[in-house]
Amino acid sequence: MAVAEDLEVSRFLREQPKKLFIGGRWIESASGKTFDTLDPSSGEVLAKVAEAGAEDIDRAVAAARRSFESGVWRDLPPAERAKVLWRIGDLIEERALEFAQLDSLDNGMPINDALLFYVPLAAATFRYYAGWVTKLDGATQQVSLPGRYLSYTLRQPVGVVGQIIPWNFPIVMAAWKLAPALACGNSVVLKPAEETPLSALLLAELMQQAEVPDGVANVVPGPGETAGARLASHPDVDKIAFTGSTQVGKLIAKASADSNLKRVSLELGGKSPNIVFADADLTQAVSGAFFGMFLNQGQVCSAGSRLFVQSKVYDRTLEELVKTVEETRLGPGIDPVNQMGPVVSKAQMDRVLGYIAVGNQEGARVIAGGGRAKELGPGYFVQPTVFADVDGKMRIAQEEIFGPVVAAIPFEDEDDLIEKANSTIYGLAAGVWTTNVKRAHRVAHALRAGTVFVNCYHIVDPVTPWGGFKQSGWGRELGPQALDLYTELKNVILDIS
Ligand code: NAI
Ligand code: MG
Repeated sequence: MAVAEDLEVSRFLREQPKKLFIGGRWIESASGKTFDTLDPSSGEVLAKVAEAGAEDIDRAVAAARRSFESGVWRDLPPAERAKVLWRIGDLIEERALEFAQLDSLDNGMPINDALLFYVPLAAATFRYYAGWVTKLDGATQQVSLPGRYLSYTLRQPVGVVGQIIPWNFPIVMAAWKLAPALACGNSVVLKPAEETPLSALLLAELMQQAEVPDGVANVVPGPGETAGARLASHPDVDKIAFTGSTQVGKLIAKASADSNLKRVSLELGGKSPNIVFADADLTQAVSGAFFGMFLNQGQVCSAGSRLFVQSKVYDRTLEELVKTVEETRLGPGIDPVNQMGPVVSKAQMDRVLGYIAVGNQEGARVIAGGGRAKELGPGYFVQPTVFADVDGKMRIAQEEIFGPVVAAIPFEDEDDLIEKANSTIYGLAAGVWTTNVKRAHRVAHALRAGTVFVNCYHIVDPVTPWGGFKQSGWGRELGPQALDLYTELKNVILDIS
């Protein structure tokens, strides 16, 4: 196995196979099976991991149920629960370099992005929800006969929560799911993506260290079709939170309907418009177009993958964008000199290259990149690619590619733009570049998207709600809104006369 021996995280990686974390114990899978997780910059095996199957999911759900019913977590004094969550944030920060190395090796992402942005965001998410634990208040209602009845609400945990996350930001996705669920007093079974299971296992170690009681947080890596599907259809899971493709999101909703009607929240795909008006600061807009698209090799649900540019500045904007793209250093993410890494897997690379072929067939014009970066060896490197002269109806302008491929589309005026920008099945995010403040608000108002970035992109903070319109999902994560996902509201009415 080709992992450098001198990384801070080598010690963690050396203990293999990695086990499942169920009921506060590290155990092998019931079948004894393991799977390989790869380093996408070489295609070599990074670690062997116990593979959870249906039986293991059942064990994890049972452990979660026992811990929930025992009250060991949900009935803890709120300030104590808050302390545990805050401590998890501290521990993530202490081990930040290891988390960054782990996600960089497992996913391919540039180490500096992980270290400077993603790992701190994960820690901040635990701390933000630590603050909410002591504020999960209900309210009293002014009933029509005030001297006769008293009515008040309580916020109570939903129960056993299943969480299924993708591979694009492993530690961030785990934190966005676990922190609010644990804050609200639930017990959780988290299934990381099979491509990137490692950082969630390190997090499990830290949760134990932070004294999350046994069984309250279980981490079970395994395939979507078996482990994920079992969690989604499990009769004793009260809620499922999913982030991933729209296609699998629909399966999750169906599994809920066909089993016990568990609550479902979904954070799904996108095809977000990033819109450059002629009155924008073009230097800023170009770097925003670049960052909006190519961050994390374009594997971001909110990637600005449809770049709308007003005709007057279209040629100039694309020229500058191509320059920026061509200056980008592509290579293994673990080497801090590289600004872009490989995509996560061979399957993902083939999918992205397939879309590049589709764009060519559809008559769009490649003006930067356009293929695999073969000079970088067997790793899954795809060149950052810009398609010009894209028509909004083309597949590369409608379907989520989830790789470093942007479709540039010219537009004439605002009315024309709004209609085009809103014409996909998705509605996750959007970007607007303009110096006209009225236009900024007008366009933000008209876009059908869960988040609109104005003169910025990918600014994500635990305090702001995150989720999508249309087929980009159900519900909002982060912010106080996530508390609604992880609590049931109970109304109590008393006759006090
Ligand atoms: P995926 O949606 O299959 O995987 C996401 C998670 O769902 C993983 O943990 C996986 O194990 C699980 N899963 C898969 N099938 C399942 C099932 N039947 N029941 C329960 N859980 C299941 O995404 P995948 O295959 O990794 O990527 C394919 C495409 O999905 C990407 O090209 C991209 O377009 C989209 N995607 C979007 C993401 C987003 O954040 N919007 C994240 C990941 C993928
Ligand atoms: Mg991997």
